[in-house]
Amino acid sequence: MRPGIFLGSVLLLIGMFSSVAGAFVGINIGTDVSSLPPASEVVSILKANEITHVRLFDADTHMLNALSNTGIEVTVSVTNEEVLGIGQSPSAAASWVNKNVVAYLPSANITAIAVGSEVLTSIPHVAPILVPAMNYLHKALVAANLNYQVKVSTPQSMDIVSRPFPPSTASFNSTWNSTIFQLLQFLRNTNSYYMLNAYPYYGYINSGGIFPIDYALFQPLSAVKQIVDPNTLFHYNSMFDAMVDATYNSISAYNFPGFQLS
Ligand SMILES: *[C@@H]1O[C@H](CO)[C@@H](O)[C@H](O)[C@H]1NC(C)=O
Ligand SMILES: *[C@@H]1O[C@H](CO)[C@@H](O)[C@H](O)[C@H]1NC(C)=O
Ligand SMILES: *[C@@H]1O[C@H](CO)[C@@H](O)[C@H](O)[C@H]1NC(C)=O
Repeated sequence: MRPGIFLGSVLLLIGMFSSVAGAFVGINIGTDVSSLPPASEVVSILKANEITHVRLFDADTHMLNALSNTGIEVTVSVTNEEVLGIGQSPSAAASWVNKNVVAYLPSANITAIAVGSEVLTSIPHVAPILVPAMNYLHKALVAANLNYQVKVSTPQSMDIVSRPFPPSTASFNSTWNSTIFQLLQFLRNTNSYYMLNAYPYYGYINSGGIFPIDYALFQPLSAVKQIVDPNTLFHYNSMFDAMVDATYNSISAYNFPGFQLS
């Protein structure tokens, strides 16, 4: 099985009974930009390019209506502003699910809720209630009998992995240990997936010039510029692959019983 890729974001499937097969490329769509074309036009562009998956950075009603009856799989997002309220109130979670998921099903093919964006690094004070928020949303989905169809996850920044290279020795920064522990437990118990925002360009900028730019931009590397993990001797042609492996290894380091990465 291969991870799904949303230009810049990866879904690492970690549920034990994951049935998602095959890789896909999807698109992230924010509606918080000034010159976004009308929703119907965005959807026409998606169809013309045979895009099968989109992640919305919110649960924009125009986009969800336009995506109805297209079959395109949609991830809707709880915004960072909404996470705190949902994590403090099961009824707020249930209202969110009713308003932003139940109301559009089955015509819009909503298959996941992304809770916040890079919560640990962008709003660290909310980290302790991130998994409670996910739990409340999951319980609301169970109550609506939608938990098999709609998964709950939360996209994280690569910045929570302390030293991402070499990937074989990467691990999560222990600052967030208890939240990450709860998060992985939640993802395993609900057969969901880890969502990673992997932006090789930032990895290139943060690495202080030790990697060639081609490596961050999916360009072929010359023989003299090979990037090799000294422990596994894996050759990395793209920083993106190295980021994904670093995350897999960070997750594996938690050694959950019965935990399986796919
Ligand atoms: C929604 O997506 C799922 C998963 O890919 C797929 O099995 C299902 O057929 C889709 N539903 C519709 C109505 O297109
Ligand atoms: C871990 O995260 C903390 C908080 O952001 C930071 O101060 C620290 O430098 C990080 N440690 C490593 C090894 O990256
Ligand atoms: C992380 O937290 C778990 C559960 O609280 C604990 O068992 C484990 O030892 C911790 N790991 C680290 C590296 O602190």
